[in-house]
Amino acid sequence: MNPHQTQLTNAPEWLLEWQMTNCERLALTKVLERVQPEVSLEIGTYRGGSLQVLAQLSKRVIAVDIDPAVAQLLDGKFPNVEFRCGDSRDLLPAVIGELNAAEGRTGFVLIDGDHSADGVCRDIDAVLKLKPKGRVVIILHDSFNPECRAGMRRAAWAACPYVQFVELDFVPGVYHYEAHDTAEARSMWGGFACSVLEPEPRTGALSIGESQRGLFEAVFRDSSHAASKTPGLAWRALRKLKRMVRG
Ligand SMILES: C[S@@+](CC[C@H](N)C(=O)[O-])C[C@H]1O[C@@H](n2cnc3c(N)ncnc32)[C@H](O)[C@@H]1O
Repeated sequence: MNPHQTQLTNAPEWLLEWQMTNCERLALTKVLERVQPEVSLEIGTYRGGSLQVLAQLSKRVIAVDIDPAVAQLLDGKFPNVEFRCGDSRDLLPAVIGELNAAEGRTGFVLIDGDHSADGVCRDIDAVLKLKPKGRVVIILHDSFNPECRAGMRRAAWAACPYVQFVELDFVPGVYHYEAHDTAEARSMWGGFACSVLEPEPRTGALSIGESQRGLFEAVFRDSSHAASKTPGLAWRALRKLKRMVRG
């Protein structure tokens, strides 16, 4: 078992398989306790790990997942959750339109679905179409993963006037030196980015905070993510050497 996922407590609300570290579980719980959302949106549910806390601390939740097995597995466990099955790329525009038209205030969004840079960026841009009726807190999982982080950096945060704050290292991630589960050796995962939207447009410029950028870059240099770029660099160096030898 991943040491970061060791059960810290036997809390009954943590019974379902949860793809987050203990730091993230505690942070998510605390944020939700503070926000007390009327309506929450989750993109990426898997086995219901994060949903079990969202459902407990929100009045109503919409949970989007591409895998039809998710709703089947969790059917009947959470009376206040509506499952939407499909690709977030297709579903989110209508879901966000529905939330904008609904009476209840959307107070919380978790983005943890498609982990490609394009997918993360697309989910963020779709969520930023929310018209806040009160404060909205957005948590984005896996900001320490270079692919996800690239999508988070690329999203059109500044184009949304309601965005007040973006921090990519709200909770720093982890380095899996050895392979475990689906994570390959020397891979970077986890971490929470956080953004806050308010109904009033922001005044001034928006900066994308990366308070642990030094940590991210230091770990990246030793990681398999950097190594995956090495063949291209090595190939270019070899061609340069051949040209020099040929004169
Ligand atoms: C990392 S898991 C979510 C983990 C969960 N939030 C937790 O904390 O345990 C990612 C989930 O996103 C779903 N997913 C992947 N691509 C998706 C997409 N394009 N649209 C909707 N869901 C997607 C997968 O089926 C998977 O269940």
